[in-house]
Amino acid sequence: MKRDFRIAPSLLSADFARLGDEVRAVIGAGADLLHFDVMDNHYVPNLTIGPLVCEAIRPHSTIPIDVHLMVKPVDRIVPDFAAAGASIISFHPEASEHVDRTIGLIHDSGCRAGLVFNPATPLDWLMHVIDSLDLVLVMSVNPGFGGQSFIPHALEKLKAARRLVDAARERTGREILLEVDGGVKIDNIAAIAAAGADTFVAGSAIFGSADYRATIAAMRARIAAAQPAA
Ligand code: DX5
Ligand code: ZN
Repeated sequence: MKRDFRIAPSLLSADFARLGDEVRAVIGAGADLLHFDVMDNHYVPNLTIGPLVCEAIRPHSTIPIDVHLMVKPVDRIVPDFAAAGASIISFHPEASEHVDRTIGLIHDSGCRAGLVFNPATPLDWLMHVIDSLDLVLVMSVNPGFGGQSFIPHALEKLKAARRLVDAARERTGREILLEVDGGVKIDNIAAIAAAGADTFVAGSAIFGSADYRATIAAMRARIAAAQPAA
């Protein structure tokens, strides 16, 4: 099946003192989604940005905002992000008491819903909820910080997730994005695409580079080269 590929720069590695400029720059450089990492110093040992910042960048963004919640509890903050302009809201199953209810809440708030799998979290969570998801996010680092190294086992997990996502799509006809997050670089993105990811979060690789456009273009070229000839 032919796939579309999306690059989602993670704002976590942007210059927070110039966030509006960074958002415009990365969109001008060809980003497909803006990945927005929300950390609460409780579910993960770091503290980042919330709905106020999402609302502040919304007028600067012409592409969907992909909110990655690393917070516990989840439900209280979901409507706030929907009101602040999130398009996709993803959460970790360990952080919600009632995963199915949280997915419903995200949809009722008018957003697409994603479920996030830490390196040690089994994909079993998908068994009963995949048909109501819009995105599956496989973490290739432990969540909490940008700039960590890609955990190779994530490739096996992506392959397994790809099979489940394709089967669900076959069953329901609904599109489900398969996203990967953590340690994604120009040099490993081809192998990650070959394992089945179609949506690639990259923070330090893009914002740490001198030329965002060249970096995103190089990522796309590596992904394209990894595809079997049609
Ligand atoms: C980590 C975050 C990631 C992070 C990725 O918990 O979820 O989105 O920004 O950063 P890099 O691409 O630098 O690993
Ligand atoms: Zn993230």
